[in-house]
Amino acid sequence: MQKPNIIEARKRSKAEVSIDYFKIDESLLELGKNKKYYIKTYGCQMNEHDTENIKAILEKMSYKETSDMDEADLILLNTCAIRENAHNKVFGFLGRIKHLKSVKKGIVAGICGCMAQEEHVVNEILEKYKWLNIVFGTHNINNLPKILKEATEEEKQKIEVFSVEGSIIENMPAKRYYKYKAWVNIMYGCDKFCTYCIVPYTRGKQRSRKKEDIINEVKDLVKEGYLEVTLLGQNVNAYGKDLKESYKMENLLEEVALTGIKRVRFVTSHPWDFTDSMIEVIKKYPNIMPYIHLPLQSGSDNVLKLMNRRYTVASYLELVNKLRENIPNLSLTTDIIVGFPGETEENFNETLNVVNKCKYDSAFTFIFSKRVGTPAYDMKDDITVKEKEERLYKLNNLINKYALENNLKYKDKIVPVLIENFSDKGEDTYMGYTDTMKLVNVKSDKNIIGRIVNVKITDVKTFSMDGEIVV
Ligand code: 5AD
Ligand code: SF4
Repeated sequence: MQKPNIIEARKRSKAEVSIDYFKIDESLLELGKNKKYYIKTYGCQMNEHDTENIKAILEKMSYKETSDMDEADLILLNTCAIRENAHNKVFGFLGRIKHLKSVKKGIVAGICGCMAQEEHVVNEILEKYKWLNIVFGTHNINNLPKILKEATEEEKQKIEVFSVEGSIIENMPAKRYYKYKAWVNIMYGCDKFCTYCIVPYTRGKQRSRKKEDIINEVKDLVKEGYLEVTLLGQNVNAYGKDLKESYKMENLLEEVALTGIKRVRFVTSHPWDFTDSMIEVIKKYPNIMPYIHLPLQSGSDNVLKLMNRRYTVASYLELVNKLRENIPNLSLTTDIIVGFPGETEENFNETLNVVNKCKYDSAFTFIFSKRVGTPAYDMKDDITVKEKEERLYKLNNLINKYALENNLKYKDKIVPVLIENFSDKGEDTYMGYTDTMKLVNVKSDKNIIGRIVNVKITDVKTFSMDGEIVV
C-alpha cells in the first residue's frame, strides 16, 4: 500500500524531472472485456482532462463507457479537494455506490484525483470505507491498468498514492469530451503555496512539459480537425521556469499560435508571472484569444499578504491596465475568495473597490474553506458564516452587474462564435463561444456545428447572449 503523506507532499526537490512514456502490458488489454465503466468527475479542467486520460486507458483495456451507474462493473470518482463542499459531495455519493455494491456482486469501485492525495482522506477511507476497492492518486493514473488488475484479482483494498510526484508521463491517450476544442496540459503542479490552497500538496511541484511534446500534441489536434486548444496549468505563466533551457510562456504561446490552430486559450494565470513579453505575443497573434482569467482572490493588501499571493492591489491594477491598453476587446475574468481569516469589513470593501475598477466580465466567487495541511487552516477565523454569506451575496451582485454591463456592449454587434453543439434553447438553435468566451445561442437553419461563424447579437443577458447567423 502506498499512502499519501502531507509533510512529504510539501517538500520540493531540485532533482530534474524525468519523462516516462505510457504503455499498457499486452496481457491487460482485455481485462475489461464485456465490462462497463462509469466515471464521475468533480472539480477543475485539470481534473476533467485527467478523466479524458482515464477513459482512454480504460477503453484500451476493452472497458466500455456507460452513463448509467447502475449497469457499471467499474465505478470511479475523480475527486476535487479545493473546498469542503466538493469533499462532502464525494462522501455523500459514496453512500449510493455502497448500496449498489451490496445488491450487485463484483462491482469494483474507487476514488482518484485530488482527494486521494490527502492523507486524512485516505486514513478515513481505511477506517470507514473498507469496501472501496481502489484509491489512486493524481501521480498514479498511468498505473491504472496494473492497479485494476490487482484489484480484480485480490479481494483486498488497493491503495496507490505517491506523496511526491514522479516522472512526467508522455504519450497518455485521451478520449476527448469535445470535438472541436481540446485541453492540453503544459505543466503539472504548483509551487506558489498560496496559504489557503491544497493544490501544491495534491498536484506536487511544478513540472513543465517539454515544448516539443506540447507542440506535437497541438499539431496532431490541428490535423484531427480541432479548432481550439486551451493550454492548461495551475499557474501557466510560470511555464518553463523549471526547465533547463530558456524557454518561457511567451515562447510557447507564440509557437502554439504558429501551428495554425484557430483559437488559443490558456488558464490559469497568476498575476505574479504575467510578463510584458507575454502581452506582446498575445497582441501580435490574432489566434490568441482576447480572454484572460486573472485571479484576484482579494482586493486588500493585508489579506493578499496573509494569502501569500506575492502581489499588491496596485501591481494587480497596473497589470490590468496594461492588458486593457494592449489587448483591444479584452474579456477579463477572475476568482475571488471572501471570508479569508482576518478579512475585515473594510478589507472586503477594498475587494469591492477593485471589482468596481476592473469591471470583470465574470468571476468565480468562493467563501474561504479550511483545508487540512494548509497554513490557513490554523489561522484565526472569527468571521461568522452569516457574515461570509452576506459578503458573497454582495460580491456576486456587483459581479453580475458588470457581467450584464459588459454583455450589453455586444448588442447588435457581429462576433465570431465557435459552434460546439445544439442548444437546448429551441429548434434550429446552436450554442458556442465567442473569442471573448461569451456563451451564445445562435439561430440557424443550417447545421453549423464545428464551424466558426459570424453571429449578430440580438439579445443579451447576464450569463449568455442570443444571436443570428450572418451570411
Ligand atoms: N477556499 C476557498 N476557495 C479556494 N480556492 C482555492 N482554495 C480555496 C479555499 N481553500 C479558489 C481560489 C482559486 C480557485 C480555483 O479556487 O479562488 O483561484
Ligand atoms: Fe493554488 Fe495559488 Fe497554486 Fe493557484 S497559484 S494552484 S491558488 S497555490
